[in-house]
Order: sequence, then C-alpha cells, then structure tokens
Amino acid sequence: MADVISSISKHSISAPKKHFLSDKVEHFTESVIREMTRQAAQHGAVNLAQGFPDFAAPAEVKQAARAAIESDVNQYAITWGAKSLRNAIARQMGAWQGIAVDPEKEITVCCGSTEAMISTLLAVCNAGDEVVIFEPFYENYGPDSVLSGARPRFVKLRPPTTHDGEWTFDEKELRAAFHKHTKAVILNTPNNPTGKVFTRPELELIRDLCVEFDVLAITDEIYEHILYDGTEHISMASLDGMRERTVTINGMSKAYSVTGWRVGWAVGPEKITNAIRKVHDFLTVGAPAPLQEAGVAALNLPAEYYARLAEGYRVRRDHLIPALEAAGFRCYRPQGAYYVMTDISGFGFDDDVSFVKYLVKDVGVAAVPGSSFYRDARDGARQVRFAFCKKLETLDAAAEKLGKLRK
Ligand SMILES: Cc1ncc(COP(=O)(O)O)c(C=O)c1O
Repeated sequence: MADVISSISKHSISAPKKHFLSDKVEHFTESVIREMTRQAAQHGAVNLAQGFPDFAAPAEVKQAARAAIESDVNQYAITWGAKSLRNAIARQMGAWQGIAVDPEKEITVCCGSTEAMISTLLAVCNAGDEVVIFEPFYENYGPDSVLSGARPRFVKLRPPTTHDGEWTFDEKELRAAFHKHTKAVILNTPNNPTGKVFTRPELELIRDLCVEFDVLAITDEIYEHILYDGTEHISMASLDGMRERTVTINGMSKAYSVTGWRVGWAVGPEKITNAIRKVHDFLTVGAPAPLQEAGVAALNLPAEYYARLAEGYRVRRDHLIPALEAAGFRCYRPQGAYYVMTDISGFGFDDDVSFVKYLVKDVGVAAVPGSSFYRDARDGARQVRFAFCKKLETLDAAAEKLGKLRK
C-alpha cells in the first residue's frame, strides 16, 4: 500500500513533459477588446472599449423572455433553432432585403453570430484554403480563420482623407487576393471598426470576383439596422448570382441591445446549411431556448423601432465625436455600426497600445488599440477605436475625463 501511495505521489509531482497546447492556439492571442473591458473594471474607467450597450433592451423583448421561462421553455430547442424563430428570421430577410429563405432548410440558429461565423468557417474550410478579409477587421475573424485551418489574405481598407470621406479599397489589390485556393471572402457591412457601409458598386465588384473565382461570401450583417446619413444596407445575398454562394450572418445582440443573450444565426443554401448545422450541433447543441422565443418578439418589432434605434445611435455619434475632436483626436466619421475609429497622431505617443494604457489608467477611459484590428500591429499604431453604444451620460462622463488630454 505504501509503495502504491509513494508511486502515485511520485507521478503526481512530476511535471508534464509533453507540450499540451495545440499549435492553433499559439497563433492568436486573447481578445484585446474583451481584455480592455476587464481593464476598465480594474481601473474604474468609463468603458468605451467593448461594443455592448449600457442601456435597457426593449421592454417587449424582455417580457417575451420572462414569459418563455414562466411557461417552462427550459429544455433544448431544436438544434438548428426553434421553428418560431427561424420563421421570424425568414420573414424579416424577405421584408428587409427581399431575400426568400426556406426556414426549414436554410437557417441555423447559433450561440451568437460569433458561433455562426466559426461554425460556417469550420463547415466550409480545409487546410490550405484561403479566406479574403478586409482590414482593419473585427478581431474574431483572424482566430476564426486559424481555428478552421484557413489562411487569411488581407485587403486594406484605406482611411478617408477628408472629414466626411469614406474608407475605400483598391480594386487591383482586391483582385490580387483572389485565386484558385480562395474559398471565401468575409465581409462585414456595416463595418466594425471603421463604420464603413459597403456601397452597391463595391458589393458588385466583390460579387464579380466571387463568381469568377468560384468563391463563397460570408457576410456579417450584425449592424444592418444601425445606419446614418441616409446610407442603405445591402445584403450580399440579394445581388444577382450571390444567393447560392452567400452565407449571411446576423443576430440579436446589436439590434436589440442583448449582447449577453447569445442568439445569432447563419442563413445559406441548403447544402452549406446542412454542414453548418452539423458543426453547430457538436459545438454547442443549441442556443438558449427561452431567449430564442424572445427573439421572435424582437424580430416582430415594427419598422419604427429600427428607425428609433438608428436615430438614437446617430445622436450618440454626434455627441461623442465633437468631444473626441476637442480632446485632440482626428475622427473618421462612421456611416454605420456604433464605433468611431480615430487617429491619435496628435498626442505624440509611440504607439496605440501605450496610448490606450495611459488612457485607461491615467485618464479614466477605456478604448481599443487600433493594432488589434490589423495583422501587422504597425498598421494600427496610430489608431484607437471608441464605442458609442452608451447612455449620453456615460458619453458625457467620458468626455469630461478626455478633457484631461487637452492639458
Ligand atoms: C462585426 C461583429 N460581428 C459579430 C459580433 C459579435 O456578435 P454576437 O454577439 O452575435 O456574437 C460583433 C460584436 O462586437 C461584431 O462587432
């Protein structure tokens, strides 16, 4: 007995010799955006880093969630989503974008659009495939590509040179990114972090390349309803020739201010949907069942709800930008989504990370360093992103603190 115990303890104290981590995880870091939220809490700073609203979700939607729990919607929903929610998603895609969707065969409800994106990439990518990504990019797309075995090919979005200008890309650079190993292009419109809303001619250009090189478009349209200055959101799947080669990703987080509920979806042709459903099933089984029921109430909100939502964010945008400009930032005015990218050249810091550290610790405002949206940190070294999905009083508190920068 003593021998057994001594042998167990000998084994239990020997340090593992094997390298337990996968090569995949060595290729990306933790999310900088989420890390900034932790730093904001640690330093008691105003959090303009992570894109979550600090105000209430619509009363009807909260009521529907309570009612679903009250009536014991407590067990697994159908793996690919409650029928009622799939029907509502199909109805909305028809009404807003004129896209006819079969809710039985073409929709997968996931744990947020985050899971919809990784499930889609896992469902379509093989090792050696390439995925075209516009940069700066929403930081998840980098790790998503690595996890799915694909190699990202980045195409630059160039910042506007005038106050009201747009982020643009070079047609030749985009074309050069497409070739026979290209499996997909990831498109995010309205765009995080730039606020760019891709125009019809730009989408048609991307469409033509997708058709020419036989490439799938995976479009993240989570900010579809958050648009300013008369810009229009166009779904890639609504363009001629794209219905059969597009997976449209969306979710409840941003349009209904419920980022913590984790309900999103992927909509695509039947064959691809079958593959996404398989991956999704073994990753998470299903999204929260009662919150899917609340999703039905959300998607049934009237058109005025979305007009109010966009106007509320326009007011916040126009509240924050003058405060940032007064503090010394150069702002790239967004046309959609709820972020403002800024140029920090005027502050004389070495890079964005040291500036953001100073901002959170000494000024009391958390933001996201621009480098976290680029493959090469140097490309974002002069940029910082602020989120304005906050109450006006939160933005005022941030503005007051940012006033310190002028001194
Ligand atoms: C472009 C983009 N896609 C997806 C997400 C995450 O969405 P979800 O909460 O549905 O996972 C975000 C969140 O900030 C985002 O900015």
